[in-house]
Amino acid sequence: MDSNKRPENMVRITTRELADKFIEEQVAAIRKQVGDKKVLLALSGGVDSSVVAALLIKAIGKQLVCVHVNHGLMRKGESEAVVEVFGKELDANLIYVNAADRFLDKLAGVSDPETKRKIIGNEFVVVFDEESRKLTGIDFLAQGTIYPDIIESKGVKAHHNVGGLPEEMKFELVEPVKLLYKDEVRVVGSALGLPDAMVYRQPFPGPGLGVRCTGAITRDRLETLRESDAILREEFDKAGLTSKVWQFFTVVPDFRSTGVRDGKRVFDWPVIIRAVNTVDAMSAEVPELDWAVLKKITDRILAEVPGVCRVLYDLSPKAPATIEWE
Ligand code: XMP
Repeated sequence: MDSNKRPENMVRITTRELADKFIEEQVAAIRKQVGDKKVLLALSGGVDSSVVAALLIKAIGKQLVCVHVNHGLMRKGESEAVVEVFGKELDANLIYVNAADRFLDKLAGVSDPETKRKIIGNEFVVVFDEESRKLTGIDFLAQGTIYPDIIESKGVKAHHNVGGLPEEMKFELVEPVKLLYKDEVRVVGSALGLPDAMVYRQPFPGPGLGVRCTGAITRDRLETLRESDAILREEFDKAGLTSKVWQFFTVVPDFRSTGVRDGKRVFDWPVIIRAVNTVDAMSAEVPELDWAVLKKITDRILAEVPGVCRVLYDLSPKAPATIEWE
């Protein structure tokens, strides 16, 4: 039987009971496959790698070595959440690599979107490879491959994602959720006790904030982006929109706009709000957000984020606009 093919009679995991049963089976299967050997996992903090980490911690505890690479393009608080949940609460064997300066130095002055993506992807591989070489006695590599990755990219964790690994790494793979759909992975994650903010996280591109700080990334504009995005997420949460809108974020373009502050003309950044609903990300609609919510977000960004003089809401559907700005 092809182990990469979901059996037709496989029950969809929709309840806590079914998730518990799946977890029990996978824990046994992982222990059988791995024995007393060590397993390496690139833990981004996304839904898939987080659920795989939690499953492996349950099965083999400290035999799992998680490496979290902070590329400096994470949203506010995300790397901290990985350290809090996995390093502290679950007491995992976690290596935290703060590689922000390396990534930002490599990206300095680079404005072409696809070149930016390539630099981020390549640097991730280099950093992960360096870390894995420092470790000894690793025989297995765990991956958060899920069923759509297999269908869409023939068994390789979506190339789209930063997190592709060096091809010469000759580890045996451990892929406990490879036959599950995203909604099932989330049910399993909840059953494993992961926080909702991690399990129900909206999609976040591999290159992270890098494609939302358009053109050549600068540290100050990246900070403007991170802070404005945090305000947007906070206000969406308060307004009950987080589970109703598929993806939402802010963008800071690489051009300035005139404003006036304390009676003086300033030349500051605009912040663009992007929010979309979609089924498969191939096409997307822009939700009609409540005016009061938009106004509150605008007022807070203008008051709390330095160097911003204008806030816009992008009304463009996909197509012709893509979801991301670059
Ligand atoms: P677009 O902008 O193409 O985005 O309408 C569709 C979905 O894909 C995500 N996206 C990416 N994800 N690496 C990723 O892992 C990327 O380079 C990338 N670019 C776009 C985007 O966030 C949206 O969910």
